[in-house]
Amino acid sequence: MSRVALVTGGTRGIGAAISMALKEAGYTVVANYAGNDEAAREFTHVTGIKTVKWSVADYTGCEDGIRQIEDEVGPIDVLVNNAGITRDAPFHKMSREQWDQVIGTNLNGLFNMTHPLWNGMRERKFGRIINISSINGQKGQFGQVNYSAAKAGDIGFTKALAQEGARSGITVNAICPGYIATEMVMAVPEKVRESIIATIPVGRLGEPDEIARTVVFLASDQAGFITGATFTVNGGQYLT
Ligand SMILES: NC(=O)c1ccc[n+]([C@@H]2O[C@H](COP(=O)([O-])OP(=O)(O)OC[C@H]3O[C@@H](n4cnc5c(N)ncnc54)[C@H](OP(=O)(O)O)[C@@H]3O)[C@@H](O)[C@H]2O)c1
Repeated sequence: MSRVALVTGGTRGIGAAISMALKEAGYTVVANYAGNDEAAREFTHVTGIKTVKWSVADYTGCEDGIRQIEDEVGPIDVLVNNAGITRDAPFHKMSREQWDQVIGTNLNGLFNMTHPLWNGMRERKFGRIINISSINGQKGQFGQVNYSAAKAGDIGFTKALAQEGARSGITVNAICPGYIATEMVMAVPEKVRESIIATIPVGRLGEPDEIARTVVFLASDQAGFITGATFTVNGGQYLT
């Protein structure tokens, strides 16, 4: 029987590429999303991948959604915490709501999704948790105090939880994408985008599939000795 993978925010952008690459690698994939029903319907129509809707910012919603998947599809072996949002503003203009929304999805979302399925992975002595952080969690970014704080938190979460999961066959790793050509980045004004590309040594934005391939590797049995690691996939833009 094939392993089951759950990808949060798995219907668009990087998450969609991850869902498709895992399916291609032989996993039974379920993609979660927050609200864009049309994109989810189209994604299922094109890929045949099941989609389920709830917000990763809502702990009870995560518990219910995970229980439903485990009942209908089977125990979750691979969790990709990919769902993420931006609410950018310079700090002096940042509202408490902008802070809470980004921390709620991008940081609390990791707790909310991982906690309900952690004991099952421990009992089965196998699990793969892959957290999509960001270059801006590593280096900080003007206008993104909320986002950078959450994404840096994702790296701390990864390092600590990796130590707890290691003896139970569970690996926990983070990937820090640089700027990837998704709607999130294409929404940035063209002039700003050009100035970003000028700072990337490989001279282009990354492709969602380049993140997806890293996920497929980390999910595999061959990656069993890698845990607590942070993978920098940014075209050389920021070297840690
Ligand atoms: N794009 C980049 O250059 C870049 C760089 C570094 C890191 N990242 C990170 O990579 C991840 C994916 O980014 P992306 O550019 O692919 O984003 P995207 O194109 O905006 O897609 C975001 C996905 O996350 C879902 N989502 C948002 N909030 C959610 C919530 N509360 N609960 C469940 N799902 C939620 C969305 O669902 P709906 O369709 O329902 O809205 C959508 O499927 C994010 O964590 C982002 O921070 C991106």
